[in-house]
Amino acid sequence: MGLFKKTKVNIDPDRLPNHVGIIMDGNGRWAQKRGLPRYAGHVAGAKVFKTIAYYARDIGIKNLTVYAFSTENWQRPQEEVSRIMKVLEEFIDDALNTFEKEKVRIRFLGDTSVFTGVLREKMDRIVAVTDHFPGLTLNIAMNYGGQHEIVHGVQKAMALAQKGELQPDELTPDAFGKMLYFDDCDAVDLIIRPSGELRLSNFLLWQSAYAEFWFSDILWPDFKPAHLDQAILEYQKRNRRFGGV
Ligand code: IPE
Ligand code: IPE
Ligand code: MG
Repeated sequence: MGLFKKTKVNIDPDRLPNHVGIIMDGNGRWAQKRGLPRYAGHVAGAKVFKTIAYYARDIGIKNLTVYAFSTENWQRPQEEVSRIMKVLEEFIDDALNTFEKEKVRIRFLGDTSVFTGVLREKMDRIVAVTDHFPGLTLNIAMNYGGQHEIVHGVQKAMALAQKGELQPDELTPDAFGKMLYFDDCDAVDLIIRPSGELRLSNFLLWQSAYAEFWFSDILWPDFKPAHLDQAILEYQKRNRRFGGV
């Protein structure tokens, strides 16, 4: 494990969570506390997102899924939604300039069919040029909702059944898991939610069946690599039984 960055705490590099999920929450409150408009929190949050993603790569995490925009977030004022989209586009622009150096595989999790035009082109481009990187896979959940993902899987299964290509008893949890947005989005081992909220907000509903949780009152723009260390360290102390003894 000499290749990877040493963390400040005693993380066991051989027992890292395979898949970490982060609900990047608290941007708005962070800005409001400073008398700034909410979008300033999204700008600050995007910087932290970049830092944490590359730090996760450096310590050897293989899969990171970040919740960037939910299917419910469209309810926000139009102005805020456009600002969030702009911040995401800026992240992709930056990644398009630096991907050869950063070597992170980037994908978008969610119903991305709603994205069109220039943003869509950039999304497709960053996915294509980073697809071969073997280290960290970064799934950016955009227009993502766990319930929508499950319904999408059910629709796929029904279409196969209608064509006679799937029998009801062939639809096992493993088979169904492959019908979600990605056929290789593994169970999430550790879900991190800052900002003090103790809920999933429609994040990775299927994949979180046996996830461990780490909650904190820190607002996302204040989140530091040391918090990720802490979360992983605590994760490594948990006794995961998966229903066994
Ligand atoms: C998370 O921060 C970012 C998105 C949902 C896009 P919020 O904008 O939800 O911040 P709070 O929860 O209002 O503080
Ligand atoms: C969850 O945060 C979605 C993202 C972080 C992208 P929200 O701020 O939308 O969740 P609620 O409304 O507090 O449940
Ligand atoms: Mg929020």
